[in-house]
Amino acid sequence: MSESAVSIRNITKTFDGKDFVLNGLSLEIPRGEITVIIGFSGTGKSVLLKHILGLEHPTSGDVVVLGKDLKTMNYQEIIDFRCRLGVLFQNAALFDDITVLENVCFPIIEHRRNIWKADKIQEVATRKLNESGMENRHFHKLPGELSGGQRKRVGLARALALDPEIILYDEPTTGLDPILTEMVDELIVATHAKNKGSTSIVVTHDLHAAFRIGQFIVMLDKGRVLLQGNRETFFKSDIPLVQRFLEKGFKKE
Ligand SMILES: Nc1ncnc2c1ncn2[C@@H]1O[C@H](COP(=O)(O)OP(=O)(O)OP(=O)(O)O)[C@@H](O)[C@H]1O
Ligand SMILES: [Mg+2]
Repeated sequence: MSESAVSIRNITKTFDGKDFVLNGLSLEIPRGEITVIIGFSGTGKSVLLKHILGLEHPTSGDVVVLGKDLKTMNYQEIIDFRCRLGVLFQNAALFDDITVLENVCFPIIEHRRNIWKADKIQEVATRKLNESGMENRHFHKLPGELSGGQRKRVGLARALALDPEIILYDEPTTGLDPILTEMVDELIVATHAKNKGSTSIVVTHDLHAAFRIGQFIVMLDKGRVLLQGNRETFFKSDIPLVQRFLEKGFKKE
């Protein structure tokens, strides 16, 4: 079995047959680590994430996730595959008209109702919420009654509900204040540590976060990998675009 959690092999993607959003992108995302994907706006980060989730398919090239070539999967295999991945979207994407607890029970009911009774489903959802830092007294609130940080915690609990092997985060801290940003970063690291062997993939604009939590950092440009490595690789790089990204990212302080 391949060592990589995700293996992207020379993929291209065009939506209109003219402009290529992904442009011969190759990338190996290691298992068991936190990989952070950075890059200027519009460079294809979210589109890449959608390819890993199997929500988009490449125009050419191969995407292999957890040893499976996404191109060759049938409908049932895709459903089983999706259970092995958890996603936290930017706005947490909670269902607004059901409670916190029901939000987390939702994917468990979808995928485990044939094997688990209702009390077991509630027990697992409760544990996931507690592990994400939500206290039981909030369980019967609607998402609209929660703070931004609490919504993230619920979104994370739901992403973790089926014990995914890969957890993906798209801009988890964009739009949050610095305290909440730090909280979410810490939550990502703590979640990664708790879910032994899991692979975390974080797309972010936040360079501080990228260098704080990323064990492997990938910078995209024009739908390709511009540079990959650890912090030192980036600080030592003489690629002008990398230097510009670092300058912009650290200018605020
Ligand atoms: N469904 C789609 N149809 C057509 N074009 C798309 C579609 N999804 C994305 N694109 C285009 O692909 C390019 C890359 O978009 P993407 O969302 O991946 O950027 P990004 O790197 O995530 O940017 P940001 O940092 O702003 O989130 C953009 O030019 C976008 O307009
Ligand atoms: Mg994006």
